[in-house]
Amino acid sequence: MVVPIHQQRVLSGMRPTGQLHLGHYHGVLKNWIKLQHEYECLFFVADWHALTTHYSDTGSIEESTWEMIIDWLAAGVNPGSSKIFIQSQVPEHAELHLLLSMITPLGWLERVPSFKDQQEKLKEKDLATYGFLGYPLLQSADILIYRASLVPVGEDQVAHVELTREVARRFNHIYGREPGFEEKSEASIKKMGKKQAKLYRQLRTRFQEQGDHEALKTAQALLEGQQNITMADRERLFGYLEGSGMIILPEPQALLTPASKMPGLDGQKMSKSYGNTISLRDDMETIDKKLRTMPTDTNRVRLSDPGDPDKCPVWQLHAVYSNDDVKNWVQEGCKTAGIGCLECKRPIIDAVQSELKPIQERAKEYSENRPMVRNIVAEGREFAADLAKETLEEVRQAIGIQYR
Ligand code: TRP
Ligand code: SF4
Repeated sequence: MVVPIHQQRVLSGMRPTGQLHLGHYHGVLKNWIKLQHEYECLFFVADWHALTTHYSDTGSIEESTWEMIIDWLAAGVNPGSSKIFIQSQVPEHAELHLLLSMITPLGWLERVPSFKDQQEKLKEKDLATYGFLGYPLLQSADILIYRASLVPVGEDQVAHVELTREVARRFNHIYGREPGFEEKSEASIKKMGKKQAKLYRQLRTRFQEQGDHEALKTAQALLEGQQNITMADRERLFGYLEGSGMIILPEPQALLTPASKMPGLDGQKMSKSYGNTISLRDDMETIDKKLRTMPTDTNRVRLSDPGDPDKCPVWQLHAVYSNDDVKNWVQEGCKTAGIGCLECKRPIIDAVQSELKPIQERAKEYSENRPMVRNIVAEGREFAADLAKETLEEVRQAIGIQYR
C-alpha cells in the first residue's frame, strides 16, 4: 500500500543504554533529526527490549531511560515535531505482541539471525528464554501498532523489519477476509458518491486487469482524500483495490541508516564495548584529554619521523570534522614531518568541543528540569497511546474478540 508522503509515519526505538556517545550522534540521532522535518516521527525507549537480555540486572534501566531521553532532546530531537515516549508506558504494544504471537510460526523467530548470534555473544547470560526468542516479534508489534511506514534502523535490524512485513502479511491474510468482503466493499464504494465511485472502479479495473501501478496510486490517493467514508471503509477499499482482503496492518519499510563513519579513539568503530568513546556529556577537559592521548601512526615516534595519515585514527576524525584546507594541511604536514601530532589534533579537539558544547548546555537545562522532561514524555505517550488503541480496536475486531 502506497501512502502519500505527508502521511507517512516514521517509528524507531532505542534500548536504554544510558548516555549516548558521538557514534550515536553521527549515526542515529542526526538521521532522526533530519527525518523529523520530513515526516511524522515517533521515537521511543525500548525498555522492554532491554529486559529481554538484562532481566537480571534491571537496576539502571530507569535512570538510563531518562538520561537517554535527555540526550535525544539535547541533540536536537524536537518534541514539537517528534513524539517521544517509553515503550512500557504504552502497554498496547504487549497486547499486540501477544496476538501476533498466536500466528507467528516458531521457525520464523528461530531463523532471525540475531537470535543465534546474540546467544553466542552473550554466553554468560541464559538467553534460552521465551522473551528473548520473541523479541523480534515484540519489535514487530512496536512497529505495526502505529502502522508506521518507515523504520530507520541499522544494518543489524533489517531482518527484524523483514519479519515484521511477513507477520503483517500473514495477519492480513488470516484476518483481513471478513465474510461478505466483496459485498461490503461494494457498499463502501457507494458511500463515496457516484462520481468518485465510478473513478474508483475504473482505477481498480485498470490496476487489476492491466497491472497499472499509476492507477493503483491514483486510487489510493483518491481514498485518502475521501471525507465521507469511515476508517473501516477506507481500509476495506484499500484492500479491495489489490484484490486481497482488508489491510489491517500495513507492511512497513526499513529505512537503512547509513553506517556511522564516526571512528572511535582507536580507529575501530566507536562503541561502548570497545571503550573508545567520547560521550555526549564528557566535559571539555575530558574531551581534550581523550583526544590528546589517543594513538596516532605508530611509526611516528619522534617529531622528525614522517607519518602516514592512512595509518592514523586521527586522520579518520579529520575526515568527519575538517574542511579541505585543514585536510591538505594534515596530509602535507604529516608526510613531511612538518607538523606535530598534537598540533594535528588541535582542530579536532576544537571541533568536537564546539559541537558538544551547545548539546551539553541543553542537556544541563533538561537535567535540571526533570518535570519538563516528564511532561514531554507524557505528551508523547498520550499521542502514541491514542494511535495504539485505534489499531488494537481494529485488530480485535478483525480477530473477532471485540465483544460489542
Ligand atoms: N531492537 C532495536 C535495537 O535493539 C530497538 C527497537 C525496538 C526498535 N523496537 C523497535 C527499532 C522498533 C526500530 C523499531 O536497537
Ligand atoms: Fe596522525 Fe596527524 Fe600525527 Fe599524522 S600528524 S600521525 S595524521 S596525528
